[in-house]
Amino acid sequence: MRMYDILVKKRDGKVLSDDEINFFVKGATDGGIPDYQISALLMAIYLRGMTDKETLSLTKAMELSGDTVDLSGIDGVTVDKHSTGGVGDKTSLIVAPIVASLGGKVAKMSGRGLGHTGGTIDKLESIKGFNTSLTPDEFLKQVKEIGISIVGQTGNLAPADKKFYGIRDVTATIDSLPLICSSIMSKKLASGASAIVLDVKTGSGSFMKTLDDSRTLAKKMVDIGAMAGRKVAAVITNMDIPLGKAVGNALEVKEAIEVLKGQGPDDLTKVCITLSSVMIGFVTGEDEKTCLLKAEDAIRSGIALSKFKEFVAYQGGDITGIDDTELLPKAKFKYELKSQRSGFITHMETDEIGLSSVMLGAGREKKEDKIDMGAGIIIEKKTGDEVSAGDVLCVMYADDESKFTTSASRYLNALTIGDEKPDKKSTVLDIIRG
Ligand code: URA
Repeated sequence: MRMYDILVKKRDGKVLSDDEINFFVKGATDGGIPDYQISALLMAIYLRGMTDKETLSLTKAMELSGDTVDLSGIDGVTVDKHSTGGVGDKTSLIVAPIVASLGGKVAKMSGRGLGHTGGTIDKLESIKGFNTSLTPDEFLKQVKEIGISIVGQTGNLAPADKKFYGIRDVTATIDSLPLICSSIMSKKLASGASAIVLDVKTGSGSFMKTLDDSRTLAKKMVDIGAMAGRKVAAVITNMDIPLGKAVGNALEVKEAIEVLKGQGPDDLTKVCITLSSVMIGFVTGEDEKTCLLKAEDAIRSGIALSKFKEFVAYQGGDITGIDDTELLPKAKFKYELKSQRSGFITHMETDEIGLSSVMLGAGREKKEDKIDMGAGIIIEKKTGDEVSAGDVLCVMYADDESKFTTSASRYLNALTIGDEKPDKKSTVLDIIRG
C-alpha cells in the first residue's frame, strides 16, 4: 500500500477502506509517514469529508494507536463527560462530584487549555498541592474507593490524535466534522468508560459556530459511540456567551465551589444540572425528571460539595481553600474595565474574551508558558444586560500590571453594545440521545 495512492483517492472524493485508514493512522503514529503527507490527507478529508463508516474506522484506528484504559475492575457504571471546549467552562469540576455523590464512578482524564479555551487540569492545579499525575493503579484505587478521580491524559493515550491535532492546529484543518469527531471519540473510547456524556458547545466561543453544525457533530459522535458499544448522549449548550462569570483558573475553581454551595450563577448551574442528570440516567436508568431532581438535591443537601472535598483531599489538594475561597491563589493586581457608552450588550465574541484572559496570564500563548493561577476575568455584564457609561463591564486580574492595556482593548473589541435589548438564548439548546 502507498500513501500517495491514498492521497489521490481522497483528493478525488472517493471512500477510503478500513485497511487504508489503518495504514495511514499506523504510519502517522510510528513516524513512517512524513508530516507533509499527513497534512495533505487531513486537508483532503477537510475538503471532501468522510462517510460515517470511514469516520468510525478512523476513530477506532486512533483509539487503538496507543494505550487504552481498562476500567472493568471497577464495580458500578463508569461514566465520563467531555466538553468540546469553551470559555468559562468549569463544568467538570461541578458535574463529576455531583455524579460521584449519587453513585456514578467518574474516572476522568482531562486536558489542559487549548487556544482560547481553558482546561480542567490547569484549573485543578490552581488548588495548592493537587496532584493530576497519578499512576494507573492509584487512579483506579481512588475511583474504587471514593467514586471519582480526575487526572491528566497519559502521554500514550490516542497518540495519533496528538500527532494530527498538532498538524491540524497549523494547517487550518481544525473545524472539520470527521476530524473533530474522531479526535474526541478516540480519546473517550480509549479512556474506557462505559457511558459518555458530551457537552457540545455552539457559538462564538466554540469550535462549531452554528447550531446546525453542532447538532450534526453531536449526532455523529453519539452514533460512533453506539457503534463502538458505549452509551453516549450529547447536550448542546450555548457558547455564544462565556459560561458563568469567571474566566481563569483559580477564579473558575472559586465559581465552581460557589455552584456546589448552591450560590453559583444560573446559566452555569443549569448546564451542570443538565449534564449531571444525563450522566445519572446512564448510572441508574431512571427517567429524566427524577435524575434532574437528584442532581439538584445533591447540591441542596451538600453531598456534592462533600464529595468535591473528599476528591481534592484524596489527590493531595489543600481543602482550606474550599471552605474559605479567599485562600485560593490571587493575582497581585486588578483593573476595572468600564463602559464608554450606554446601551445593551448585544453580542460577545466569546473566543476573543477567552484570548484576552490568556493575555492576562491565565492561559498559554506558547506550549511551554507558565500560567498565573490567579489571573483572569470576572465578567460583570453579559449579553442582554443594560449598561450605562461608566459601569464596570468586567474586572481583570493579573500578576503583571502592564498586561491590562492590551487585554482590555481586546475585551472591548469583543463586545457589541447597541440600543435594542437582544433576545435571550437558552443555555441548554438540545439533548441528543443514542
Ligand atoms: N477537542 C478535541 O479534543 N479535538 C478537536 O478536534 C476539537 C476539540
